[in-house]
Amino acid sequence: MKVGIDKIAFYTPKHYLDLSDLARTQGVSEQKYHVGIGQEAFSVPAHDEDVVTMAAAAADMILDEEDIACIDTVFFATESGIDQSKAAGIYVHSLLGLKANCRVVELKQACYSATFALQMAVAYVRQFSDKKVLVIASDISRYALGTPAEATQGAAAVALLISSAPRVATIEGTSGLYTQDVMDFWRPNDHDTPLVDGKFSTQVYLKATQAAWLNYQEKNQVGFADFAYFCYHLPFSKMGVKAHQMLARLNGVAEDVRHLPAMAYGRSIGNAYTASLYLALCSLLDAKDDLAGALVGMLSYGSGCVAEFFALRLQEDYLKVRQKACHENLLRTRRRLSFDEYLHFWHRVDGFSSGNIEIEDSASGKYRLQAIRNYQRIYCKS
Ligand code: HMG
Repeated sequence: MKVGIDKIAFYTPKHYLDLSDLARTQGVSEQKYHVGIGQEAFSVPAHDEDVVTMAAAAADMILDEEDIACIDTVFFATESGIDQSKAAGIYVHSLLGLKANCRVVELKQACYSATFALQMAVAYVRQFSDKKVLVIASDISRYALGTPAEATQGAAAVALLISSAPRVATIEGTSGLYTQDVMDFWRPNDHDTPLVDGKFSTQVYLKATQAAWLNYQEKNQVGFADFAYFCYHLPFSKMGVKAHQMLARLNGVAEDVRHLPAMAYGRSIGNAYTASLYLALCSLLDAKDDLAGALVGMLSYGSGCVAEFFALRLQEDYLKVRQKACHENLLRTRRRLSFDEYLHFWHRVDGFSSGNIEIEDSASGKYRLQAIRNYQRIYCKS
């Protein structure tokens, strides 16, 4: 039985900061961002957006009534949790009108957890082929102002529908895995922004990528040349380029551009943590019309750290279900923020901590965080 990704779509906030504006304010060359880290811009969530509103908007793009009737499991992967106890996915379940006979859980392991969610969803549908699972990866990458990491912020959600009639991709073979207890990036419970050892984190990413690839090689009779394209977790696009060059060298290949079509959305959306790898997959699906049958290498990385290398086989019908027009429209209609507007959105509004606030309607998205009353988050459909 074939099981895999039947539909996939992303949502990203309607505002962005152009990295030229950040470079100008910081007094550094814009080439450092455009060439050095390979980024153009990053999406900036408004005060009435969070991982719930982005997730609902992404899922809304792919679900029809039949899907809603078959979904009995929602996996919500995030490291931008809005509550220490309640799963963010329960709000999404409510906003989307999913049926009550459904389970919803939240998963965390830095940027990696959406890949675990995908693997669990596939295993579940293999056992219960009449069911569908909604996998959501939703995150806001937010670093302290004035730090080197500020340029690598971003925000997006990706929704994936897993079914036994997959029109986008199936998972082939056995994953290559790697875990190491390492402090490259982490966010203690009382911190609003992560602590990060930036340069070290890039080295750990490369080491984990290599280890996961070698483990994949031990388990599968598939060589580097068998892959038509590669998608990487993209904290910034240059990181994916470096990982790919490292794997190419390891496999005796000098020049290789099979990662490039997967970089486009990440370059202008920025790091979206759990969603980044799946944004890369959306970039690839939207960039190419001849992917049917292609084998795609997927490298998932989450600081701390866990890495997984796995393979997707793209399906004939992906052209019928890809959301290229919606994705392109989303990016085309984003509004460029002035630097002061960016600072306004970056700073949390008073009331998030006091537990009582009415939030101005500024996101122009379909779903919004309307208020926090008595520490309860109130969401609505615009
Ligand atoms: P930095 O100090 O700004 O970087 O921090 P830099 O000074 O090394 O410059 C970056 C690159 O730009 C360098 O290239 C420079 O040479 C180049 P490289 O040597 O690396 O090839 N450069 C220029 N190029 C052209 N023209 C110029 C110019 N000037 C400089 N004029 C850093 C960069 C990535 C460390 C920082 O942004 C950071 O700390 N980011 C956050 C951490 C991060 O993204 N780590 C990535 C790996 S860990 C990961 O992916 C997990 C994560 O997603 C979290 C999770 O799992 O939850 C982050």
